[in-house]
Amino acid sequence: MTEAPPSSPPAARVRNLTKTYGTGQALVRALDDVTLDLAAGEFTAVMGPSGSGKSTLMHCCAALDTADAGQVFIGDQDITRLKDKALTRLRRDEIGFVFQSYNLVPTLTAEENIKLPMAIAGRHPDHAWYDAVVDTVGLADRLSHKPSELSGGQQQRVAVARALASRPRIVFADEPTGNLDSRSGAEVLELLRRSVVDHGQTIVMVTHDPVAAAYTDRVVFLADGRVVDELRSPTREQVLDVMNRMAEQAPEPTA
Ligand SMILES: Nc1ncnc2c1ncn2[C@@H]1O[C@H](COP(=O)(O)OP(=O)(O)O)[C@@H](O)[C@H]1O
Ligand SMILES: [Mg+2]
Repeated sequence: MTEAPPSSPPAARVRNLTKTYGTGQALVRALDDVTLDLAAGEFTAVMGPSGSGKSTLMHCCAALDTADAGQVFIGDQDITRLKDKALTRLRRDEIGFVFQSYNLVPTLTAEENIKLPMAIAGRHPDHAWYDAVVDTVGLADRLSHKPSELSGGQQQRVAVARALASRPRIVFADEPTGNLDSRSGAEVLELLRRSVVDHGQTIVMVTHDPVAAAYTDRVVFLADGRVVDELRSPTREQVLDVMNRMAEQAPEPTA
């Protein structure tokens, strides 16, 4: 895998990020002092047991939620200090997000869905880039189809194209293959991988699947809101080993 040159600054930096939910007995530390660099041009997987804080981390990094303490830098901007207008601009121009459930607009065609965020922003996509995205996504012959006329894998590829269309600095994907069978999942993973290799896109993806993690350059493991382990150029077997070790170390459920 190609490493980003040492001179290029990380696409995102997370510093001492902490977020709690609830109070007293019901207090949950969803993120507990997380510090993490996300290198530009790298494909990172975030793994960990259910409830370990993966979605909270994605949402705080993508400015879809706010933390209690700590910072998130996208490029050199501390997003925890941005006001509404700057946040809107950041979400529109610098960040792409892919949800597990596609979140396409059912009445719009694939092409209209891909262009929708830019249309809302009153922008025209860069034609060469748009063509490259559609080409990478492999949906050129499906652009006039509505989501209901597409398979799950095709719908998620449209959602990935929508996330890539504005050439964001970083794309976050929360279990993008969680609803897909393994073949459709592989289509989406190959697409994500290709956008990293061919276009230098930075991607952070939550997954439970060691096979999906093996498509990435790096796996970061969370447990109880903390970063507990990490792998580079992971294989499926290495990922499984860490998952098994984490399961052995996990405290017995108390209830
Ligand atoms: N809106 C919320 N209100 C209360 N607790 C929440 C909320 N969102 C998440 N949590 C809790 O925070 C912890 C981390 O959740 P989450 O980030 O969704 O984990 P993951 O994505 O790894 O499954 C869990 O204990 C979860 O129950
Ligand atoms: Mg989650």
